[in-house]
Amino acid sequence: MPALVLLGAQWGDEGKGKATDLLGGSVDYVVRYQGGNNAGHTVVVGDQKYALHLLPSGILSPGCTPVIGNGVVVDPSVLFSELSGLNERGVDTSKLLISGNAHIITPYNVTVDKVTERFLGKRKIGTTGRGIGPTYADKINRVGIRVQDLYDESILTQKVEAALDAKNQMLTKLYNRRAIATGQVVEELLGYADKLAPYVTDTVLVLNQALEQDKVVLFEGGQGTLLDIDHGTYPFVTSSNPTAGGACTGSGVGPTKISRVIGILKAYTTRVGAGPFPTELFDEDGEALRRIGGERGVTTGRDRRCGWFDAVIARYATRVNGLTDFFLTKLDVLTGWEQIPVCVAYEIDGKRVEELPYSQSDFHHAKPVYEMLPGWSEDITGAKSFSDLPKNAQAYVKALEEMSGAPISAIGVGPGRDETIEINSFL
Ligand code: GDP
Ligand code: IMO
Ligand code: MG
Repeated sequence: MPALVLLGAQWGDEGKGKATDLLGGSVDYVVRYQGGNNAGHTVVVGDQKYALHLLPSGILSPGCTPVIGNGVVVDPSVLFSELSGLNERGVDTSKLLISGNAHIITPYNVTVDKVTERFLGKRKIGTTGRGIGPTYADKINRVGIRVQDLYDESILTQKVEAALDAKNQMLTKLYNRRAIATGQVVEELLGYADKLAPYVTDTVLVLNQALEQDKVVLFEGGQGTLLDIDHGTYPFVTSSNPTAGGACTGSGVGPTKISRVIGILKAYTTRVGAGPFPTELFDEDGEALRRIGGERGVTTGRDRRCGWFDAVIARYATRVNGLTDFFLTKLDVLTGWEQIPVCVAYEIDGKRVEELPYSQSDFHHAKPVYEMLPGWSEDITGAKSFSDLPKNAQAYVKALEEMSGAPISAIGVGPGRDETIEINSFL
């Protein structure tokens, strides 16, 4: 049985947690392959609501093994508080596996994230302040600390020293902060070693052996396509690859094993933090989307910026991820509008442009070209099949499908597990 990737097709918060949880009951492994606790995935099971940041959403499905792959950055303090929070609510977390090659978010990475953002002032990225960017920077600079380093005190000390050498210069001379002592960091990190040990393993071997044994492996992306460090709206992006290729590098599973790539797509658009957003609304429609859609960040509590659906972005997501399917979420939020604008192209310097421009300055002043689609007023939260939807809601879905370049195989009509219309099976 094959591997599937489930990822965000926009700027994150599309409903990946809910979609993963929905499939979690039928898959053997759910793997996070990039990002860290910058993610905020909300899963609603019955009357219980869970907010997961670092753990794969599959942790809520009893038969499923959750895996933190080598591409993820792990803050051990967050990991343990998330695990104990779930344990207190009766969730069994003992099956969790963590790659020994995953990088650790150290306390100094969190400090650097915060001070650099403050230093950027008006030009800031609006990061989640969780140390994500600096940890990936250390990884690429080859001064990162990996999970396996916690099991050799001498190597750990040398590595922390090497990482802090340059950082302390920067912290004290540029940012006017106190230097961070190697010994203190090493002590804190060693304090996690025994508690982490039962989870740490060679996840590359585990996942490839599982696939050889016909097990089903689901990769759960954090963030979204437009936040990808290579394919997103750089520099207003996260520091990893949420796009489909990241599932391979971030887990050690080869691309030939992946048979399905599912893009999670919100029926409108949201974004958190700074950066261009052509369909952003600053009027009461934007306010209404935020209110009805509950568009407030799970991780930072920031209001999400809201706008209409952007088909140019959806087409781009289909292309860079090789999407085979879409899972359209939050269709219910659009109930009540008489007409719903959908962005079908951009106008850039007086010219109509159908595809996402590669030039950052073009994208920054792209104006949306809207097509108006008729809305519906009926409550759709109880819809179980496509034909239960009002005709105009059906037409909206079909129009989005045609514009976006891949079949819409499921539709979310509410936050709950069962508030989903399945059109084509994913498994
Ligand atoms: P993620 O980061 O992609 O996992 O998404 P978030 O959890 O940050 O944000 C999505 C929000 O929408 C969560 O509060 C979900 O419970 C909620 N949600 C997901 N799907 C639907 C849906 O189809 N309808 C509604 N009304 N809410 C949904
Ligand atoms: P999920 O998985 C939405 C955004 C931040 C900021 C940029 C860089 O819930 O969809 P970072 O802390 O990653 O260096 O911040 O990326 N960002 C997200 N926006 N959803 C997320 O995750 C995000 N994770 C990071 O707001 O603009
Ligand atoms: Mg989120």
